This record gives sequence, C-alpha cells and structure tokens, in this order.
Amino acid sequence: MDVRTKGIALLTLLLFSAISSFSISAANQPHKVKNLATPHRLSSAAVFKVQGNVYPLGHYTVSLNIGYPPKLYDLDIDSGSDITWVQCDAPCKGCTKPRDQLYKPNHNLVKCVDQLCSEVNLSTDHNCASPDDQCDYEVEYADNGSSLGVLVRDYIPFQFTNGSVARPKIAFGCGYDQKYSGSTAPPSTAGVLGLGNGRASILIQLHSLGLIRNVVGHCLSTGGGGFLFFGDDPIPSSGIFWTSMLPSSSEKHYSSGPAELLFNGNPTNVKGLELIFDSGSSYTYFNSIAYQDIVNLVTNDLKGKQLTREAGDPSLPICWKGPKSFKSISDVKKYFKPLALSFTKTKNVQMDLPPEAYLIITKHGNVCLGILDGTEVGLENLNIIGDISLQDKMVIYDNEKQQIGWVSSNCDRLPNVERDSEGDFPHPNAANFGIFGNGCPASSEDIDDQ
Ligand SMILES: *[C@@H]1O[C@H](CO)[C@@H](O)[C@H](O)[C@H]1NC(C)=O
Ligand SMILES: *[C@@H]1O[C@H](CO)[C@@H](O)[C@H](O)[C@H]1NC(C)=O
Ligand SMILES: *[C@@H]1O[C@H](CO)[C@@H](O)[C@H](O)[C@H]1NC(C)=O
Repeated sequence: MDVRTKGIALLTLLLFSAISSFSISAANQPHKVKNLATPHRLSSAAVFKVQGNVYPLGHYTVSLNIGYPPKLYDLDIDSGSDITWVQCDAPCKGCTKPRDQLYKPNHNLVKCVDQLCSEVNLSTDHNCASPDDQCDYEVEYADNGSSLGVLVRDYIPFQFTNGSVARPKIAFGCGYDQKYSGSTAPPSTAGVLGLGNGRASILIQLHSLGLIRNVVGHCLSTGGGGFLFFGDDPIPSSGIFWTSMLPSSSEKHYSSGPAELLFNGNPTNVKGLELIFDSGSSYTYFNSIAYQDIVNLVTNDLKGKQLTREAGDPSLPICWKGPKSFKSISDVKKYFKPLALSFTKTKNVQMDLPPEAYLIITKHGNVCLGILDGTEVGLENLNIIGDISLQDKMVIYDNEKQQIGWVSSNCDRLPNVERDSEGDFPHPNAANFGIFGNGCPASSEDIDDQ
C-alpha cells in the first residue's frame, strides 16, 4: 500500500504541544505518580516488537496493550514528540479506525488538578475552573498534522527483560480531533507513541515509577520490523558512538550536532548541521542549501554511469532508472557512494549512511533519493535524520547522560528477553501475562477482548 505521494512523508516531529496547566492542588490524587528518588542501579527494560518499513508503508509501529480488558493499539513510534495518544471513542473528528478499535474512556480522565496536568505548564494563563475539569492536550506536528484531546489514565502492561511484568497506570491522550496534513493520506495507525522526554511522556512516567532508567531506543530493520525498548538493558557495553544532546530541545525531541557531511569519506561543503533524530519521519530532511549540495554531489557522481533521471516515478522527488528494473538496494550499491555524518565536537564520532540509508527502490523498479528538502516542506533550517537513515542501527536516547548513541545492529534479532515457557517473544496479548488476577478493575465477564 503506497500511501505517500510525491515528496510527502510521514513527519511526526513535534512542533508544538500544550497541556492545560493549572494551579497545583496536591489534595486527593489517588493515582499521583510516585516521585521516587533516583532508583538504585536499575538494569531492566521493556522491549516491544516493531512492525513497518520506510517504503512503501512510511512508518514503524508497535502494538501496545492498553486498558482492562486490554486492547491492542498500533502506534507510530515517534522520537520527535513526547505525548502518546490514541484515537478516542468519543464524538470524534479525524478518527480513521473502526469504532471497536478506538479507545473508550471509562471514568478515567486525568483531572486538571492532577500533578501530571499541572506539571506541564506551557500556558500558565489557564485556570482550573473546577477541580473536576479535564486535562486537555494538543500536539501539532511538523507535517501540519495535529491531535487534540483529553488526558486519560489506564493500565498499560510492560514485560521487562528480567521476566517481571508490571501494569502501571499511565497517562496518555485520547484524541478526538485529529487533522492530517492535506496531501498525506490519513494514517492507518491508531495513534502515536511519543518517545520524547517531556514530563507527560510514557518514558518519564515509567522512570518516575522507578521501573526503568530514563533511556529509550529503537532498532529499525531495512527488511521491515525491528524493536523498541524503554530502559537500558539491551544496550551493548561497547562499540557505541555517543554524541551529546543539544539541551535546548531535549524535552520535546532529540537533537545533536554540529555535524558535517562526508561523501565517500571526503569532506564536503555541508557543515555545521544540527540534526534531530526523528523516528516519526520516514525520510531524512536537510535544509535547502545542504540538500542542494547533496543532490549535486550524488548527481555529479552518477555521470557516465548507466543511470538516468526518471521524472515519471511519483514515489519521491528525485529518482533514477537503470538499464533494467531494480529489485533491491544491492542492485544499485555499485552506483552510489557512502555518505556519513561526522559529529565534530567529539573526535571520531560518525554516523555512516551507506546507500541503503538514503535510497529506496520503488515498486516501479527505480532508485530514489530518500533525502528531501526540509525547507520546502516548511522545516526552515531544521535537519532531520529520519527512519531511512536510522535503519539497521540501534539508536539510543539516554536522557540521564544527555547523549544520543548508535551502533550498527541486526535489528531482526530481538535482544535477549527472558522468554515464557513457549519460548516466544513477549506476547502482544496481555491477557496471556497472567497479571490480571489480582485487583482487577473489571470483572471476569468482561474478558472478551477482540
Ligand atoms: C509552572 O508555572 C509556575 C507558575 O507560573 C512557575 O512558577 C513554574 O516555574 C512553571 N513550571 C515550569 C516547569 O515551567
Ligand atoms: C505546513 O504549513 C506551513 C505554513 O502554512 C507550510 O509552509 C508548510 O509547507 C506546510 N508543511 C507541509 C508538510 O505541508
Ligand atoms: C525486574 O525489573 C522490574 C523493572 O525494573 C522491577 O520492577 C522488578 O522488581 C525486577 N524483578 C526482578 C525479579 O528483579
């Protein structure tokens, strides 16, 4: 299914988010997130299997169990934003899922006096008119999509790599007004899983509960799929390139720099780039000037080779065709040089971008450039490392050490997780965890999940 039109890609980088904020009334907060002191040495993680690909789908998703009885929601994983939301079973604009796949609030709205709502005060002029008011949220993404809704709190089970299962109550958004950017088809996913470090994020909630270190990461496979993890357990002890996060933006998204582009190992004019690592973006974007330089470098290097520009392929703005139809990246690797980003603040910190990290083979048998002009789509000077360039690497966002790391990995191989007796990966159906035996919020007759 090809849902992307020319030059348009999923780009769920957060531009703006707000949660109604109100004066703090600490009274009466039964579900207040415990504010544990920094946990003793934790070395656990919750690992989720990822589905999806850069092309033709344009997104990577995880299936997250939410609620009781649990229902599965496929959520776009987005390191470019922090708020997690699902489409809401309420009078809803822009809900694309059938009703039985929408989230139905069940007297579990987060109140505006809740610490979580008041902690996130971007707009301090709001007031909690009544303590029972709901807590609204709004997110707006770089592709001009947005979600507006209300915060709810519900059970989300997590199986940890040490074998334990926890089912904390986690706050997230129930989105009843979604806008999708005009030229992009409405997404097939049920919502967004924000991996950012903002205080309303799932990451921070898990960390505040003392369950994980404040670390999140993903490993996306060029073959499709991969995995996502909260916590530090899957991180190898060596071989990782680390670069410091730019502190200015770390709450909302993860950025680093400055970096310069290498073409076939040689310096280029493309320097001083600040880069946002954004798993919510299918492709990589550079500001116009850098983009044009890259196009020129790649194009000039193709001179005298058997590739010709193909204007008739609607997949992406710049495509080439070969003597015969291409089937896979390995058919074109001999025509294209490797790129790399060198992070100049630290010696020898480099992100390699082999041809598969910046090219796709389309269903029309052409090869297209998966680097796009960000200025043209309204990103101004922002540069975004999207899924295409993050593939086949374990990418780690370590908010405790304020650094971003990556290492080449086989993302098809899930990290060691203590498996259940059937020896399979943590099952997506939380009912199989056997964790709802005690203190169930619902009676057993209700267990008839999809
Ligand atoms: C929230 O708002 C209060 C009152 O305006 C302010 O004192 C506080 O610093 C704000 N907190 C954050 C994290 O911005
Ligand atoms: C988003 O809106 C801005 C301002 O209206 C526009 O310049 C930009 O091209 C839009 N971006 C996309 C991806 O449609
Ligand atoms: C496993 O890890 C979780 C999350 O960090 C923790 O809550 C739990 O106590 C650990 N269980 C064991 C048996 O160590």
